[in-house]
Amino acid sequence: MHPLTMPRRKQIFEGKAKILFQGPEPGTLVQYFKDDATAFNNKKRGTITGKGVLNNRISEYLMLRLEEIGIATHFVRRLNMREQLVREVEIIPVEVVVRNVAAGSISKKFAIPEGTRLPRSIVEYYYKNDELDDPPISEEHITGFGWATIQEIDEMLNMSLRINDFLMGLFLGISIKLVDFKLEYGRLYHDNGDIQLVLADELSPDNCRLWDVHTDEKMDKDRFRRDLGKIEEAYQEVARRLGILPESGPGDIQGTTTLQ
Ligand code: TMP
Ligand code: ASP
Repeated sequence: MHPLTMPRRKQIFEGKAKILFQGPEPGTLVQYFKDDATAFNNKKRGTITGKGVLNNRISEYLMLRLEEIGIATHFVRRLNMREQLVREVEIIPVEVVVRNVAAGSISKKFAIPEGTRLPRSIVEYYYKNDELDDPPISEEHITGFGWATIQEIDEMLNMSLRINDFLMGLFLGISIKLVDFKLEYGRLYHDNGDIQLVLADELSPDNCRLWDVHTDEKMDKDRFRRDLGKIEEAYQEVARRLGILPESGPGDIQGTTTLQ
């Protein structure tokens, strides 16, 4: 069928960087990656040409590697340059942030110079709510307000630390320091009544801090937040080091203007 005559899929939700559409089968969604970028909860907006294509690829790659070590995720398969098929889950409104090195809000809050290695990995929780600017929360808030159970918090914590160990090694292997990152989890309702906690959303330079091991150069959304320039180049470099850009160069990826 000609693309223009294809029935448009039903849009379920539009977020800041992605759109969710109804999937081809019940229980699935199509996750579309936009080039839109926001920071500081929508106070700063822009477009990073080609970002959606790169994040779709990077997130696919990382979710597949995590599946290989037994981390359940919502990812099913990549459909095209900007879309991936995912399982429909009930998103837990808790953002789990894991930090290995001080940067961003923790540096500001506790006056720790950016780049200071933390004595151990630190996990923080934030309430996923744009209107409230994602306020920091404790386990008491999470259970008290019924956002997740104690068991679910335990599971999120354990999964997040495993993901951190694995990703730190993976990135170190390509000379990238995993400074910090944010994860989101969802409940997958199985037909037999089982409820499974799975990693959802995306894993990309939009929600990780990635620094070059040798130069500490930032290769993530801080380039946009702090107006450092060369944003798409940094995302491309992450993809290149992960080995998911064709050898002959980014020109081989179609569907974006910057990459051509
Ligand atoms: P922060 O230093 O601003 O608290 O951010 C910590 C990490 O979490 C950083 O890698 C960016 C990521 N993050 C998001 O993905 N979404 C958000 O809304 C926030 C505040 C942070
Ligand atoms: N994700 C948040 C926003 O889009 C915060 C950030 O990444 O800086 O505003």
